[in-house]
Amino acid sequence: MELGGNSPERAYTNAEIEGVKAKVEFKFGNVLEIPFDNDVFDIVTCSSVLNNLPREKNRIKALKQIFRVLKPGGKCMLLEPLRNLRMFCAFTPFAVFQLGKKEHWENYAETAGFSKVRFHDEKGIGVFILEK
Ligand SMILES: C[S@@+](CC[C@H](N)C(=O)[O-])C[C@H]1O[C@@H](n2cnc3c(N)ncnc32)[C@H](O)[C@@H]1O
Repeated sequence: MELGGNSPERAYTNAEIEGVKAKVEFKFGNVLEIPFDNDVFDIVTCSSVLNNLPREKNRIKALKQIFRVLKPGGKCMLLEPLRNLRMFCAFTPFAVFQLGKKEHWENYAETAGFSKVRFHDEKGIGVFILEK
């Protein structure tokens, strides 16, 4: 909701434009308490959300929630801007300090229970494929 003008209606309009409205459902929820049962999703994507959470324990808590709602063998694609030189040019120094390094996100994912963590650097954005 921090994105200006965002709303469920807007998301449904976009789905309609893409011709997928009948196949999607949008729900509000807190990533620290994801409003779904255990083991229900094949894939979770999470783009530049977890760096908004203050403190490591909340980032790990969110990853535990993602782990919980994934089916066994399910995958999460996590995108996070990393604390690196490129992001120092894109953000303010204070904001960059809040970002995690590659090793931080790998540690959080492993602590949350993910068995396999793959990493790719996409122009300073960390792309992590986490497997339950
Ligand atoms: C930088 S925006 C990224 C938005 C979008 N995922 C993207 O990639 O363009 C960060 C998003 O994280 C959301 N967010 C922050 N804390 C959250 C929380 N505890 N639970 C769910 N979403 C949260 C904000 O509402 C905001 O939409």
